[in-house]
Amino acid sequence: MTALEPPTLLLRRVRPYGEGDPVDVLVRDGLIAAVGPDAGDDLPGDAEIHDMGGAVLLPGFVDLHTHLREPGREDTETVATGSAAAARGGYTAVFAMANTQPPQDNQTVTDSVWRIGRSVGLCDIHPVGAVTVGLKGEQLTEMGQMASGEARVKIFSDDGMCVYDPLVMRRALEYSAGLGVLIAQHAEEPRLTKGAVAHEGPTAARLGLTGWPRSAEESIVARDAILARDAGARVHICHASTTGTVELLKWAKAQGISITAEVTPHHLLLDDTRLESYDGVYRVNPPLRESHDTLALREALVSGVIDCVATDHAPHAAQEKCCEFAAARPGMLGLETALPIVAALLVESGEMSWRDLARVMSTRPAEIAGLQDQGRPIRVGEPANLAVVDPDSPWTVVGEELASLSANTPYEGMTFAARVVGTVYRGRMTSRDGEVLA
Ligand code: DOR
Ligand code: ZN
Ligand code: ZN
Repeated sequence: MTALEPPTLLLRRVRPYGEGDPVDVLVRDGLIAAVGPDAGDDLPGDAEIHDMGGAVLLPGFVDLHTHLREPGREDTETVATGSAAAARGGYTAVFAMANTQPPQDNQTVTDSVWRIGRSVGLCDIHPVGAVTVGLKGEQLTEMGQMASGEARVKIFSDDGMCVYDPLVMRRALEYSAGLGVLIAQHAEEPRLTKGAVAHEGPTAARLGLTGWPRSAEESIVARDAILARDAGARVHICHASTTGTVELLKWAKAQGISITAEVTPHHLLLDDTRLESYDGVYRVNPPLRESHDTLALREALVSGVIDCVATDHAPHAAQEKCCEFAAARPGMLGLETALPIVAALLVESGEMSWRDLARVMSTRPAEIAGLQDQGRPIRVGEPANLAVVDPDSPWTVVGEELASLSANTPYEGMTFAARVVGTVYRGRMTSRDGEVLA
């Protein structure tokens, strides 16, 4: 066996999709080779055996929305540390947003991030290409070059910024349809969010924080659904955060418009009452909304109106978060806490099965991005990209213990029942019991 060949792995006692009695799963040459009681017969001497004690086996998670800070802010996250966080979180593919410094707005940068991801080798790192040069919203990038480069860029987004000019968005959608790529929109009408740091509502009013109205998001969602319809293009809505966005997605999908959407774990779990502490860790764009929004988002995810979970993992340095609320950078860590949160809110509550969770964290995001070897069913012959989850292994979040280079988690001190105990990426174990394996 050379160093490049994945080892033979036997996962003992796992329950695919949390269904039925535990079985053994054999992984060989990067593929699932056998599932069942005889899977471990005729093991080679150098096989790795992992007894998973009856844990739930799922397809590896796919995150359409991660911020790694390389190039430019390697003090807060790198491709390597973000890949480690992804592996610990059960992810086998993540999309790295374009708002790096310099931004990923040309093929040199997208190919370089891709190559770094490959050399780290813990997770597929897909660079997202910028829609406009310098994320300025004015001039379209060479999307075709990025799409045909080594990184094969599949998703384009100015995330962090909205492609606010309707004519620029229209052209971007038209080009994307021709290229077969996807535009992901950070839906925020900037004229409505000038100086905004918190959800516009009673909490922000009482705390004296400038409000970000739901209409800033919803007006762009409505507009882009219509632009996508007329361009015959697909559009993806990043981090849906309001009840109204859910209604608009329902409407657009009922019209047959090719629109998809993601929701973050933090918008499913947290609301703006957290802001009472004025702790900058709760500042995020779009802002934490009200409890009826969180409920509508959960329902929409269960029903499929919202297609998937995406983390919007956004590492920031301590000095950028531990300051006056309005001066804090927006964003929170997400990769290592996504599964426990979605499991707590939707599986433990009985609203979703593990199979449903696999749909929203793996299958649908892989389909949306057009990945061939991720989000695949757990069966013989399929690529071995897998996450193993212990549904009852309570753990308490400590920011400093996360693999991420930053520690800005809003879940500090919170205890979750479910935890990722193993990740298999391209036939190799990349994390086991919280330890990242090189
Ligand atoms: O909270 C956010 N943080 N929202 C964004 O759109 C950008 C992101 C970041 O890059 O930190
Ligand atoms: Zn965004
Ligand atoms: Zn983002």
